Amino acid sequence: MSQKPECKTEGNYIVVPKGLVNVIVDETKISGVDPKGESTIYRGFTIEDIGENASFYEATYLILYGELPCEEELKEVKNKIDKYRGQVPEKVFDALKHVPVTHPMYYGIYGASLLGQFYASDWKFDPDFLYDHALRLTAQLPVIFAAGWNLAHNGTFLRPDPTKDHAWDVLRMITMREPTELEARAFESTLVIYMDHGFNASTFTTRVIASTLSDLYAAVAGGIAALKGPLHGGANEKAMEMFLDAKKRAEGKGVPLDEYIEEYILEKLAKKEKIMGFGHRIYKLHDPRTDVAAKFVAQLKDGDYWMKVLKKAEEVMWREKKIPANIDLYTAILYYQLGIPIPMYTPIFAMGRVVGWSAHYIEQVLNNKLIRPTEKYVGPSGLKYQPMETRCRK
Ligand code: SDX
Repeated sequence: MSQKPECKTEGNYIVVPKGLVNVIVDETKISGVDPKGESTIYRGFTIEDIGENASFYEATYLILYGELPCEEELKEVKNKIDKYRGQVPEKVFDALKHVPVTHPMYYGIYGASLLGQFYASDWKFDPDFLYDHALRLTAQLPVIFAAGWNLAHNGTFLRPDPTKDHAWDVLRMITMREPTELEARAFESTLVIYMDHGFNASTFTTRVIASTLSDLYAAVAGGIAALKGPLHGGANEKAMEMFLDAKKRAEGKGVPLDEYIEEYILEKLAKKEKIMGFGHRIYKLHDPRTDVAAKFVAQLKDGDYWMKVLKKAEEVMWREKKIPANIDLYTAILYYQLGIPIPMYTPIFAMGRVVGWSAHYIEQVLNNKLIRPTEKYVGPSGLKYQPMETRCRK
């Protein structure tokens, strides 16, 4: 844990560090990183325990409702998610056929907004109403991402199959081929470990929008927009691009990648570049989510090869910067092994995190206080309006 911060005040105001580093802004019962910064607690369980053992449906129920479901509750949440996955309004697919080909995170940003136009007109702050929309959005957002990507890049898309398991069906719609059980379980585990993570940037964005009493679809559109940034969700794409660039250079030199990766990383560090997939605001020793993903990386295509590369990269970054890998380094490789197009990596992060954003939206609105910090204005003051002729200095 970093050194004990001093709390600065100015008159009636508390002054906090830029980026709200180590600032607790509210309490939550959904998830949080343990004080030692070595694990994340999901509603009382460790994230790795849930990531390894829970299905997408069980983890969704846990994050939304606060406990693992019993048989009946699991059946109900599975039926709702599978039913809603098959009910994306046709006009949403029509809209996707006419939008320009952009970064696929935009399919989620306007996909959530489009769904809001269909579902959010008479918005209520009744828990059952909110949970139902959380399940609907959880089910439908992945369909929109997959359809948007494949319409833009393959001219067609696969419609959901509500009779299939959610993770299996979503992976099928993304890659447009039927995954194996192992591939589907690997994919499902990443959706679970991406589901929530305390007050990360996109979740806090969602809570700020929730605190204005806007609707869930608008709040999640904001969360997706925040997640798009490379310092947050976009790192898994950048990490894979880095590995492929290093692979090409290693082949050019006739050196195995798990040897060349050291030189490659040192070169970037010398240029003060950040290595995507490393570092974290909270985890200073280890991101436990990497252990869940690593188990699947080792079992999937070229597992031994990629594990050697990953471990070498981690060894170099720890020796040089004492910075651990974060989940995005491992999901980058895992999604590559699943044959998922690289620009779809961050949308997949959103397909899991939509559950956490929804849970935080509900927690915020049911015990709300508008989030509106203040600022220290340090610009000029006392200026007067000037006519044009006196304005432009020669
Ligand atoms: C996620 O918040 C969450 O929980 C996020 C997430 C979630 O589930 O929601 O866990 C998901 O976003 C994981 C993080 C993915 N992002 C990346 O992998 C991008 C690369 N990482 C860095 O940008 C950085 O580590 C952050 C943004 C993740 C965290 O940075 P901080 O806490 O703001 O710390 P910092 O950027 O001020 O870095 C401190 C020092 C700096 O060195 P100095 O300028 O003091 O000399 O560490 C260095 C940084 O330059 N550093 C790195 C580095 N990360 C930090 N140097 C090289 N490579 C890196 N990746």
